[in-house]
Amino acid sequence: MASNAADRPRAGKITVVGAGFYGSTTAQRLAEYDIFDTVVLTDIIEGKPEGLALDLNQSRSIEGFETKVVGVTTTPEGGGYEAIAGSDIVIITAGLPRKPGMSRMDLLEVNAKIVRGVSENIAKHAPNAVVIVVSNPLDEMTALAQIATGFPRHRVLGQAGVLDTARFTHFVAEALGVPVKSVKTLTLGSHGDTMVPVPSQCTVDGRPLSELLSPEKIEELVVRTRNGGAEVVALLKTGSAYYAPSAAAARMARAIALDTREVLPVCAWVDGEYGISGVYLGVQAELGAGGVRSIVQTPLTDSELAALREAAEAVRAKQADVAGM
Ligand code: LAC
Repeated sequence: MASNAADRPRAGKITVVGAGFYGSTTAQRLAEYDIFDTVVLTDIIEGKPEGLALDLNQSRSIEGFETKVVGVTTTPEGGGYEAIAGSDIVIITAGLPRKPGMSRMDLLEVNAKIVRGVSENIAKHAPNAVVIVVSNPLDEMTALAQIATGFPRHRVLGQAGVLDTARFTHFVAEALGVPVKSVKTLTLGSHGDTMVPVPSQCTVDGRPLSELLSPEKIEELVVRTRNGGAEVVALLKTGSAYYAPSAAAARMARAIALDTREVLPVCAWVDGEYGISGVYLGVQAELGAGGVRSIVQTPLTDSELAALREAAEAVRAKQADVAGM
């Protein structure tokens, strides 16, 4: 038997804004980690976060966690946000998901309004929090959250690379019939059309992917990874993916909460790395207390570097647009 869960160190408060599938699954994963005192789940749909919190709390004795989940209905005017005071980390999942056939960019205007409002309330009630954004379009919403909170850039980051990398890993493992734990993959760039999977950094049990799969097969898996979210949306028909996305967001939060200093692919502020400056972009970063501790550069082939620079310019143009939204 593991040590008594009630004796385990547990600290801090984390808030998940938005109690849709993405948000509620994230809250569940965070609660089941059993490392936080409190997980706060908020939504503007009256009673929904309270109901989900009650349900999650009732699972505690079965799943064996002591973390308490608190559900709070908030109003668009900011009512209810007092409940997030003192949060060490806030994960923004609020916003609309895609429908089949939509690109993440189709959500830009409607989600910009939502993310700006949420961010302003976070700045007011949890001014010391690290903010993890998952709302789409991801790179643009991360930039907007930083602008709207006014937080230092290392304290605002976005979730994408952990998810995109996990999808790529799954596809490679499936293609080769090997365990996912044998596979290491990497994606950089945007969480969108200019996603940059990095096959040169991908290995299976330490062997380069290029020795195991043909360039055509690798390209096929790269394309499937880039369309990973859309493939799920097309199957679900209502809403977008949430199991892998919530696993990714919760994992980032855990690295920050436990100050693990893990290097993970995330959407972070880039200032000179890869010859790119002044933009939120998918790169590898060391995560720990306070958010992003440093950007970690990895060797890229010329074509991967060119693709990353292209992604940066595409994202930069859109991020300039959201600043005024
Ligand atoms: C996805 C959405 C959540 O990639 O961005 O599934």
